[in-house]
Amino acid sequence: MTLRLAPDDAGLARAAALLAEGRTVAFPTETVYGLGADARSDAAVAGIFAAKDRPRFNPLIVHLPDAEAVGTLCELPPGAERLARFWPGALTLVLPLREGAPVSPLVTAGLPTLAVRVPDHPVARALLAAFGGPVAAPSANPSGRLSPTTADHVLAGLEGRISAVLDGGACGVGVESTIVSLAGAPALLRAGGLPAERIEEALGQPLTRPAQGETPTAPGQLASHYAPAGRVRLGIETPERGETHLGFGAIRGDLSLSESGDLTEAAARLFAALHEIDRSGAERIAVAPIPDHGLGAAINDRLRRAAAPRG
Ligand code: TXA
Ligand code: MG
Repeated sequence: MTLRLAPDDAGLARAAALLAEGRTVAFPTETVYGLGADARSDAAVAGIFAAKDRPRFNPLIVHLPDAEAVGTLCELPPGAERLARFWPGALTLVLPLREGAPVSPLVTAGLPTLAVRVPDHPVARALLAAFGGPVAAPSANPSGRLSPTTADHVLAGLEGRISAVLDGGACGVGVESTIVSLAGAPALLRAGGLPAERIEEALGQPLTRPAQGETPTAPGQLASHYAPAGRVRLGIETPERGETHLGFGAIRGDLSLSESGDLTEAAARLFAALHEIDRSGAERIAVAPIPDHGLGAAINDRLRRAAAPRG
């Protein structure tokens, strides 16, 4: 049984109490819903991996209330201060883990680094305040499937496998956070809700980026991911007969990510549109071309994974 909790005082208190008992609770962030557990507890964190069927080598992001809390767990290399201005927000930093920091080794998958984020969603922030500790949270979907942007998406994938979901409505950004490593030369590990161009501007230097087809540096960046059930083709202006066409801008399609060609709107709708196509039972999906700048980079990254050959 999975509880659906309202994000009011009683619901938040219940959610925080479940986390304190070592249980798993899904909650909304501005990017996607996360599946949270106490990052200090091996047993609690193991519950996340079990619920998601997530490979143990894939480390988790720890969610914290502010940049100060980040400094208690991680060393802050040059650049961290400049990028901390994006918090709260859709940016995850990979930083050297402080020796003796109270974080379960399951969270880092044994790496000497920790991924941290200060989320910008009132319900996430209220939950962090009520719980008062670090919350490890991957996206709240079965491993390899689409990320959830509503509580219904969470329950469709994880009902009965997690203790509760705080229902805070639809997520505003709609794609996961951008991941930047500052453990070495500043590197973009995952395109996401904060455009890389803005991060480079704040840093005053370019981010190194993984070449296409190169082994991913974020261990979770497996080629086939974010997978809807149907086969996906990209960059399609004119679909074949029998394909469900996902449009953008002037290309209308059967449903559109954004009829006005707005990338922010398209990011917010991306996973909901793919979930909807999934529910319709579509076996073949064609997606219109999406420009590759700003949030388009994150959208195209997710779409390429959705279209990748399945392992
Ligand atoms: O927007 C988000 O980031 C959402 C919300 C819930 O915060 N979370 C999320 O988590 O997308 P997840 O687990 O689905 O993706 C986290 C990614 C994975 O690809 C993982 O491999 C990578 O972050 N990661 C975590 N710790 C890392 C580390 N120490 N070094 C490199 N990559 C790391
Ligand atoms: Mg995920």
